[in-house]
Amino acid sequence: MSEVHEPQTLLKIEHLTHRFGGLQALTDINVELKKGTINGLIGPNGAGKTTVFNLVSGFYVPSEGSIVFDGTTLNGLRPHKIADLQIGRTFQNIRLWSDMTVLDNICIAQHSRLGFSLKDVFLRTKNYKDREAQIHKEAWELLEKFSLADSALDYPKNLPYGIQRRVEIARALSLNPKLLMLDEPAAGLSTSDLDGLINYIKWIHETFGITIWMIEHQMQVVNTLCDSIKVINFGKELAEGTPEEIQKNPAVIDAYLGNAKIVEDAQKPFEPIKIASQSRRPQKD
Ligand SMILES: Nc1ncnc2c1ncn2[C@@H]1O[C@H](COP(=O)(O)OP(=O)(O)OP(=O)(O)O)[C@@H](O)[C@H]1O
Ligand SMILES: [Mg+2]
Repeated sequence: MSEVHEPQTLLKIEHLTHRFGGLQALTDINVELKKGTINGLIGPNGAGKTTVFNLVSGFYVPSEGSIVFDGTTLNGLRPHKIADLQIGRTFQNIRLWSDMTVLDNICIAQHSRLGFSLKDVFLRTKNYKDREAQIHKEAWELLEKFSLADSALDYPKNLPYGIQRRVEIARALSLNPKLLMLDEPAAGLSTSDLDGLINYIKWIHETFGITIWMIEHQMQVVNTLCDSIKVINFGKELAEGTPEEIQKNPAVIDAYLGNAKIVEDAQKPFEPIKIASQSRRPQKD
């Protein structure tokens, strides 16, 4: 008889509670993400969603509870240590270096990981130059793969919001994460850009096979992409289930989905769009 294997757990959060001084932001949050799945975290403004992401990525230390990622307890680890464990994230307000090119934004993420010695940096040793050339080459390849090579030499501040979002996601993926956390990837996008974003995240999931966890208010995005959705409200768990279950859940409709616009967006059909491959790599002279 052939055995059926349950997908393994990648992230397990138990009894997560967080206080900011006297403000109880989160109370007893429990999350289990299975490897290879796409998961949603939704809830009204101020519910505590970004706080959950900030706790997992080490920006805050939990007041109570445990966060275990791929066998390692994350509580108390610094953000760069957590990134080294292969957790990548993007931010609700895009965080790109606006006065560096898109290409340099990708390169600098790699630089910060490599930890050159001061001697390497100041003397520009052969080791440093070789690695720098390699990083540059890999950054170009990454941007080509993500259909972003046309924007490689542009400054993020001059690019449309949707492209900036894609660059930030590509930068997170350049560090080879096992878990990619996206905080409101659709924020600021027009309704007509949503299908493109959905398609982009689907492509990432299929191409890299990674686990994705996203916070999102756009129910069209969450319902199309997610295997499972957790709803929080006032820092507490309200519901968990498949997109179909969540859309029908009376408590969720009452607390969150009752907003007619959100329900209407959730019911729009999704039309896949093909991502065209582009390239504008400068010619060598
Ligand atoms: N650094 C902080 N210091 C104090 N209070 C904070 C801090 N960060 C968040 N909060 C508070 O914690 C609560 C949860 O905030 P959080 O940003 O996690 O909500 P959210 O669900 O991401 O909301 P939104 O959908 O608006 O992004 C809010 O009351 C917020 O004001
Ligand atoms: Mg938030």
